[in-house]
Amino acid sequence: MKLEDRDVVVVTGVASGMGRTYALAFAKMGCRLALCDIDEEGLAETKNLVAAVSAADILSECVDVTDADAVLAFAQNTEEKLGSARIVINNAGIEGSAQPSWRTPLPTYQRVMAVNYFGVVHGCQAFLPQLLSHEQSWLVNVSSVFGLIGTPNHTDYCASKFAVRGYSEALRAELEGSGVHVMLVHPGGVNTKIARQEFSQTFAKHYLRSTPEDVVDKVLRAMAKRRARVVCGHNSWKTALAARWIPLGYLSRLIWRELSEFIDTSHYPARKTRSEETLRENQ
Ligand SMILES: NC(=O)c1ccc[n+]([C@@H]2O[C@H](COP(=O)([O-])OP(=O)(O)OC[C@H]3O[C@@H](n4cnc5c(N)ncnc54)[C@H](O)[C@@H]3O)[C@@H](O)[C@H]2O)c1
Repeated sequence: MKLEDRDVVVVTGVASGMGRTYALAFAKMGCRLALCDIDEEGLAETKNLVAAVSAADILSECVDVTDADAVLAFAQNTEEKLGSARIVINNAGIEGSAQPSWRTPLPTYQRVMAVNYFGVVHGCQAFLPQLLSHEQSWLVNVSSVFGLIGTPNHTDYCASKFAVRGYSEALRAELEGSGVHVMLVHPGGVNTKIARQEFSQTFAKHYLRSTPEDVVDKVLRAMAKRRARVVCGHNSWKTALAARWIPLGYLSRLIWRELSEFIDTSHYPARKTRSEETLRENQ
């Protein structure tokens, strides 16, 4: 990546975690920033932190990425006030219900999809014309390692992150040769505020271990090399290799064995051993 002076960088979901870290990293490079989040207080804190390290222009707006019109208005304001965006990081996201699928209410599926998947679609649609106006530009969509494997207690979250992956891989093919580099990010466990639910605390303590700074540094390096995908953060490589090489039937068993230690399994059906299953099939 060769950033030019006064490049305009857009980051969604900057009130905390990796979004805030992206904002600070690009601010230190002297970029002009268009930042948004639904959390007004956290957004203001990020704006102050950014202003302390950079004198470049900042546009910060309270935007809900599930609202297509609001994202479009944010894109128009960005172009008017800062100029045309050259880097867009669709980062805003939320966790799911952290419960088994049969205990996850339909509105939770809809909300998780609206933020994690449609938030990305809205960001891409609103900013693509600006990205296409440059000779070279970057569109970075944040999925997860849970966009590579399916895990118990995460049907809502995994579905949304697989959707981001499918959408971005297809978009990448569409934009091949256009100068817009589409990159997928699959972070492993990162220590941020994402795990807000009581149900996810044991899981979060065990898995969310990498720092946002480490992940953002790796993403920036991958952008410089115009990588199509970056997999980074706690347990991410192990997960990516397993997703690629282990047959799904065996992988599901391994995943259950590992994760069932760190989730509440009291609402799951009793497990049958393989020999019990075979015995029943043969009866
Ligand atoms: N932390 C992890 O272990 C991990 C792992 C893989 C992927 N991710 C993904 O990384 C991204 C950043 O997450 P994070 O870990 O920094 O979490 P975080 O909770 O610290 O940051 C997410 C930000 O998105 C904002 N947001 C939520 N809903 C929004 C909406 N409707 N409109 C605008 N902003 C909204 C939140 O207010 C928050 O500031 C997310 O997409 C997340 O799914 C995180």
